[in-house]
Amino acid sequence: MALVSAKGILETARDGHYAVPAININNLEWSKAVLETAQELNSPILLAVSEGAGKYMGGYKTIVGMVNGLIEELNITVPVALHLDHGSFEGAKECIAAGFTSVMYDGSALPFDENLAQTKEIVRLAHEQGVSVEAEVGSIGGEEDGIVGTGELADPAECKTIADTGIDFLAAGIGNIHGKYPENWAGLSFETLEAIKAATGNIPLVLHGGSGIPEDQIKKAIDLGVAKINVNTECQLVFAEATRKYIEAGKDLEGKGFDPRKLLAPGATAIKEAVREKIEVFGSANKA
Ligand code: 13P
Repeated sequence: MALVSAKGILETARDGHYAVPAININNLEWSKAVLETAQELNSPILLAVSEGAGKYMGGYKTIVGMVNGLIEELNITVPVALHLDHGSFEGAKECIAAGFTSVMYDGSALPFDENLAQTKEIVRLAHEQGVSVEAEVGSIGGEEDGIVGTGELADPAECKTIADTGIDFLAAGIGNIHGKYPENWAGLSFETLEAIKAATGNIPLVLHGGSGIPEDQIKKAIDLGVAKINVNTECQLVFAEATRKYIEAGKDLEGKGFDPRKLLAPGATAIKEAVREKIEVFGSANKA
């Protein structure tokens, strides 16, 4: 199946009371592991690409080519959207032109009026091409790709104004942060999430910082309207751990163990296991 917009994927998830994982990809192994797992579990999936990962992989067109090739040659039939994560205005425009099927325009660090004006313009450009749009209100805490957010609780009235621009799904700060959660983390603010849901109506909501949120909080967030959950750090951690174990066990020194296809295999398997667990907890298995 060709890449699709994330709009239909997330509206179906919202109506079905489950969430679809948006997994950040970093290279071929990551992309293949995520696609194969989604196919095995018959789950829709979003492959998310930060601007930093986009540069790392050689540029957006390279990624579009790689992902389209994998979908065709691995016979991936579940719905897949290729999504820009935390895009700038220019990055979102480039991704729309390169063949991404979904973009996040993140103007949450800008004065609200500028965020609003730029979100409107990206909606216009994206929708002309059938590309779905995510916008953000209230920056997500933590650090991602050099972008540091302070972690806010989004203002429901601002969420409503941004939702009214015609975006397809909305990310809003509800106490979530990127990266590892600190010991003293207060947890998600369900009060804020409920107020945002009440203000914005039917638009699917997005939960960033999906690594390390306890399962009961994930389930409650889904009950309250979250239809997309972003996961990045957890895959990076399990990949690094599996690769470290391989090397510490001296396996790269045995026979042809230094071959990258062998060296990177435990990490890829670990990503598959992490993605499998997310699909199961988020409830998107067998929803393709
Ligand atoms: P984590 O790295 O905390 O999983 O967050 C991912 C994310 O929100 C990407 O936008």
